[in-house]
Amino acid sequence: MSAKPLGVGLLGLGTVGSAVARAFADRSRRIDAAAGRPLTLVAAAVRDLKRPRDAGDVPVTTDPHAILDDPDIAIVVEVMGGTDPAGELVLGSFERRKHVVTANKELVAKEWNAVHEAARLAKRELRFEAAVAAAVPVIAGMRGLGAVRPRVLRGLLNGTTTYICSRMETGKSFDEALAEATAAGYAEADPTNDVDGHDAAYKLAILISILEGRHFHPDHVRRATLRGIAASELTGAAARGARIRYLAVADFGDRATKARVGPEEVSAESLEGQATGPTNVITLEGDLVSRLVWSGPGAGGDATASAILGDVIAIARSGT
Ligand code: NAP
Ligand code: HSE
Repeated sequence: MSAKPLGVGLLGLGTVGSAVARAFADRSRRIDAAAGRPLTLVAAAVRDLKRPRDAGDVPVTTDPHAILDDPDIAIVVEVMGGTDPAGELVLGSFERRKHVVTANKELVAKEWNAVHEAARLAKRELRFEAAVAAAVPVIAGMRGLGAVRPRVLRGLLNGTTTYICSRMETGKSFDEALAEATAAGYAEADPTNDVDGHDAAYKLAILISILEGRHFHPDHVRRATLRGIAASELTGAAARGARIRYLAVADFGDRATKARVGPEEVSAESLEGQATGPTNVITLEGDLVSRLVWSGPGAGGDATASAILGDVIAIARSGT
């Protein structure tokens, strides 16, 4: 194993950042072995130094630029969320010739061209496996399908809305179920992003962009909200042998791709109908491959940290 440690810096130490920091504290031997060299978590940027966290003993700063300017940091992990200041910090990381790993689906979906171009110019890696379906390696999977003509992509891309639907089926109210999803760390900092479909639209736009090899803007995804869904709609669906789930669908027609996210009725026996908690399900139909399915935990600190660390390890292994 090479003796020279590779430094990692975190922008954000919330649900996801703390899980990454805990993994560095608890399983560094496994991470180093997978990377083929020692990896060190150098520091993390936060907003509030006084906020209690379960994040090992990583040093914290309120100056995110200190992470970018630190010569010991080669890989910046952006887990702040939103586009401002995250976008400027990601571009600044590339300007300082750092690699970037991000879980920020909003930034990647909206600024696809800018962030990819910045990485290309800097000759550094941009990785975002955690931005879609958290622990489920669906981005890596879709990147391997360059020869395939996709027909339909459908699934559950937002853990919070699956959680809400499945908990309402057990008698919880919408507000109770959303509060539980927030407490578990599944919901976005502003859960409007989950229940009004922005989060699912960002993820769907990213997957379409990968499959089509060009930017598909999330504004082109038709969105319907889950807000206001009544318990009677869920029980009515159940009486018909169905479930309501927050579906994401892309139809790759001969002309423009049509994309939508929103609550839809699915068969209770389908993979989507069977999904509970923060489970994501992604099904792709296309020529050559017939039908491919990915499924697993699509939200939560540890599940997302798994994908982030997979990206960090891949960069380390690439010989940086
Ligand atoms: P979070 O718990 O709200 O954490 C955000 C972190 O960023 C906090 O530590 C916060 O500092 C810090 N921060 C925000 N603005 C900052 C600023 N201007 N300067 C310095 N620090 C700043 O969010 P999260 O759930 O970890 O999500 C982070 C990202 O991962 C988002 O893009 C989200 O969409 C994505 N993601 C989340 C999940 C999930 O299950 N939670 C899964 C996949 C992807 P303080 O702690 O001091 O407030
Ligand atoms: N808020 C997101 C969700 C986190 O519920 O799916 C994972 O991206």
